[in-house]
Amino acid sequence: MQKHSERMRQEGRTLSFVPTMGFLHDGHLSLMQAGRQRGDRLIISIFVNPTQFAPNEDFDSYPRDFERDLDLAREVGVDVVFAPQRESLYPDGYQTYVRSEGLSNHLCGISRPIFFTGVATIVTKLFHIVMPTIALFGEKDYQQLTVIRRMVQDLNMGIEIIGCPTVREPDGLAMSSRNAYLKPEQRAAALSLSQALFHASKRVQSGETETSTIIEDAFKRITAHAETEVDYIAVVDAETLVDIEAIDRPARMALAVRVGTTRLIDNIALNP
Ligand code: PAJ
Repeated sequence: MQKHSERMRQEGRTLSFVPTMGFLHDGHLSLMQAGRQRGDRLIISIFVNPTQFAPNEDFDSYPRDFERDLDLAREVGVDVVFAPQRESLYPDGYQTYVRSEGLSNHLCGISRPIFFTGVATIVTKLFHIVMPTIALFGEKDYQQLTVIRRMVQDLNMGIEIIGCPTVREPDGLAMSSRNAYLKPEQRAAALSLSQALFHASKRVQSGETETSTIIEDAFKRITAHAETEVDYIAVVDAETLVDIEAIDRPARMALAVRVGTTRLIDNIALNP
């Protein structure tokens, strides 16, 4: 992959890159379409990264369908699919990690303490292998996007990071490979996440500024459904991810909720 990228760069091509863990859906495909427009060559990776899963998480059961992913990638005009084996990225004796120290202490970082180290490490490795000009990430994983932007800046990686809007099902549920785990009755409960966010956004648009009120309301809307267990609902500064009490600057409302055993996340911009 490195040699191939080197050759493409020597030919003067700009390389767009979309890292994924596969089981592609329209959210992933929207990043690819954006990458297609911005670069001469489009590269994606498909790799379920073991270092971002804790031992009690769903690494083994994470949904995989490589042949279907290849078909979808072909349809959107991907030039190269990089799909390494675990042993080639993490051979015996592997011991080097990239750790973000500030942004990763909030939101998902609290209940998933190793997650962002795993993400920052694999994304760094993929960047070194693929050597992209531009890399595209979804706002669906808003904290991941901020951690990666900061990492690229802090470590002088010289890659342009593009954030792309969250793609949703027609009813509002944010697309996620993990939606495949939901049973029909859980699917209805899962819908309460985006509905709570949309409702919060409306309240802010009509003048509400107190975050505690907004959070409480979202909590009630979500926990009214069976099988929901809130990990967090927070309103944070859109840049630092620090909790705020009033919406007096660009903010992000983010939440993580378990529906049955499936942990789902979603977020929305809240602007004063
Ligand atoms: P994965 O969950 O497969 O997501 C790959 C990319 O697709 C991420 O940038 C994610 O934010 C984006 N994405 C997922 N659902 C989306 C949606 N509904 N709308 C828009 N974009 C969406 O995120 C990862 O993989 C991994 O952590 C990875 C970055 C590949 C590192 O292992």
